[in-house]
Amino acid sequence: MEKKSLDFIEFITSRKSTRNFIFEEIKKETLENILECGRWAPSGLNNQPWRVCVAEHPLLKKMLADTTEYGGILESAYYNLVIFLELDKTYNRVKDLQAIGAFMENILLGAHALGLGAVWIGEILNNKEKVNEIFKLSADKYELMGVIALGKIDKQMEAKKEKERTRRFLDDFVEWY
Ligand SMILES: Cc1cc2nc3c(=O)[nH]c(=O)nc-3n(C[C@H](O)[C@H](O)[C@H](O)COP(=O)(O)O)c2cc1C
Repeated sequence: MEKKSLDFIEFITSRKSTRNFIFEEIKKETLENILECGRWAPSGLNNQPWRVCVAEHPLLKKMLADTTEYGGILESAYYNLVIFLELDKTYNRVKDLQAIGAFMENILLGAHALGLGAVWIGEILNNKEKVNEIFKLSADKYELMGVIALGKIDKQMEAKKEKERTRRFLDDFVEWY
């Protein structure tokens, strides 16, 4: 395989969730580059059913943090990307959710490409009504899909808390015909 291809595969497999951040400014332009990766995610009929509320203000992050047991992560991240499904743009539940998954993974990979840390917080869905209220978004129009906490990686803490990363083996989930 070409080196470039190998590098790209290594890039994908080396992405991991970051839950320890150093509080340091991340410029809006940097975040825009990351969001651009989301923008180019595939979606059924190219319907692009996503909506992102970017929370940077500490008070807003605190309000979000209070809605999840992973609040400490949200508060310590520089940005909280709150991702909604825009219901007016939807056409097929499964395909719309798949598109959101692709969108969110692209954002995680964009952050990784720029050497930043990110983690997808799904637990917050347990309090999705409260999150809609925070942004004054009607639940009839916007459905919370998750939050991505993004920030500069606290490498020391990450190393300290590092656990072995595991995945099922291909033979466990691939069938060849
Ligand atoms: C749909 C979804 C929901 C997740 N929810 C949470 C969460 O609430 N809290 C958290 O710390 N990590 C959450 N994660 C991150 C996973 O724990 C993580 O991706 C998984 O353990 C694999 O680790 P890795 O990302 O480091 O490879 C979530 C990931 C996905 C895709």
